[in-house]
Amino acid sequence: MKSRILIAAAALAVATASAWADDVTIGMILPMTGPSASTGKQEKAGAELYIAEHGATVAGKTIKLEIKDDTGAADITKRLAQELVANDHAAALLGFGLTPLALAAAPIATEAKVPEIVSAAATAMITEKSPFIVRTSFTLPQASAPMADWAFKNGIKKVVTIVTDYGPGIDAEKWFGETFKKDGGEIIQAIRVPLKNPDFAPFLERVKDDKPDAVFVFVPSGFGAIFMKQFVEQGLDKAGIKLIGTGDVTDDDLLAAIGDPALGAVTTHHYSAAHDSPENKAFVVAFEKANGFRPNFMAVGAYDGMALIYHALEATKGATDGPALLTAMKGAKWVSPRGPVEIDPETRDVVQNIYVRKVEKKDGELYNEEFETIPSVKDPYKASKK
Ligand code: PHB
Repeated sequence: MKSRILIAAAALAVATASAWADDVTIGMILPMTGPSASTGKQEKAGAELYIAEHGATVAGKTIKLEIKDDTGAADITKRLAQELVANDHAAALLGFGLTPLALAAAPIATEAKVPEIVSAAATAMITEKSPFIVRTSFTLPQASAPMADWAFKNGIKKVVTIVTDYGPGIDAEKWFGETFKKDGGEIIQAIRVPLKNPDFAPFLERVKDDKPDAVFVFVPSGFGAIFMKQFVEQGLDKAGIKLIGTGDVTDDDLLAAIGDPALGAVTTHHYSAAHDSPENKAFVVAFEKANGFRPNFMAVGAYDGMALIYHALEATKGATDGPALLTAMKGAKWVSPRGPVEIDPETRDVVQNIYVRKVEKKDGELYNEEFETIPSVKDPYKASKK
């Protein structure tokens, strides 16, 4: 009996010591290689910039950012999450470049009671898979429904949708399509293209015969260049078919590589490097100076993920207890480079402005120029389930 009490006391001492150790490890899991490597590159740069700007010390603790490459494979994400929690005693997990990767870590976050901050993946239901998931990116319903309203109000009546065939694409298809039909529009055809080695050409060739007013597209960040190239090669732009979508297709990391075929594309999203605010101007200048490339919405998701972690550690006065950090994250509010943001305490999703943007040339460079704001948009998927 006595020895059991001693063991318990020793275990408590170790647990307490690790909870109050000087270092706080943040385990960041990203696709640094493979088809979504641009997401990894942008997210890493965003998180590192936040630490460089705010200092590595918060509430007396030193932040240690451990970045791990899951190559975009869910089994690797899961193993890395396990190792970061069990071996490195990570106080929070951050990143997750694709929906299946965010889902793979969810049971580990739940079991270990460690916050999983999803700063990239965007299928609406992700936050329902663990009470420890908090999101700083966006959701596809949040970006897609406003696109439908804008399109219908601006003379677009018939649309073909083309999406990548997995979680976020299916969300985009559903929320654009249902909103557009409710507004009075017609969906002529809803096309899904595989995530692996996508070839849009055969689909786009057929779309021309449908003669829609516009094609609505979702492809994940990093895949926009191939879609845009094939859109133009198949002559859809010359046929007068407008290109609309969520901002993933004209993502700031790829826009220069896509070039003039992107001109005129109208998209809805939560972040553009051209966002006109003092916070964003300072962010873009510092980011480009540190990295030599332009930030996209993934960089901002990670920058804000770190902002949320700093906020939570300040609130707990440096304690790394998972449930306490989670409580501090719920309802957190701050001004991001994208505009004002808030973590919805009920859904743990981010409430944010959605902007309508058009690709335009400014000083010889392409930008998503914002021209309309829909303020404080909550994820409509969760709102619809109430
Ligand atoms: C996702 O897999 O959830 C995802 C990835 C890239 C995006 C959007 C969503 O641009």
